[in-house]
Amino acid sequence: MEAKIISVPKYEDPRGNLSFIEENNHIPFKIERVYWIYDVPGGQVRGGHAFKVQREFIIALSGSFDVVVDSGTDKQSFSLNRSYYGLYIPCGLWRQMTNFSTNSLAVVLSSTKYEVSDYIRDYNEFLKYRSKL
Ligand code: TYD
Repeated sequence: MEAKIISVPKYEDPRGNLSFIEENNHIPFKIERVYWIYDVPGGQVRGGHAFKVQREFIIALSGSFDVVVDSGTDKQSFSLNRSYYGLYIPCGLWRQMTNFSTNSLAVVLSSTKYEVSDYIRDYNEFLKYRSKL
């Protein structure tokens, strides 16, 4: 399965807009954890790794950044810069976050609790893992 952009509801209002997400509804998993990445210095790269089980949904709540998703054979880059859509990433894909703008805020909704053993941090190990799927 591939990573894809998912739009979430947006209530436009002169008082300010409102968006929301419900687990198993707007995104295809139950939310077990939420974390966020912020105060990223210019030029830094986050998240060069893959997950065996964890699925996630990444939103640029503020500012912008790119997420590069790599299946081992294909690479796709997604620009996130609005708070009413996000990127759904199934498990088993290598992903990196780059080009963070000043004051950007990346929020990540995750399908699992933090689990060190779910990470694949070595790219060659990732390629081996993919070849066995
Ligand atoms: P890490 O996943 O390595 O960041 P990146 O996605 O940029 O590779 O996480 C950085 C540190 O934060 C790492 O030491 C583990 C810790 N951490 C938690 O304790 N809980 C979490 O939910 C996450 C995402 C990270």
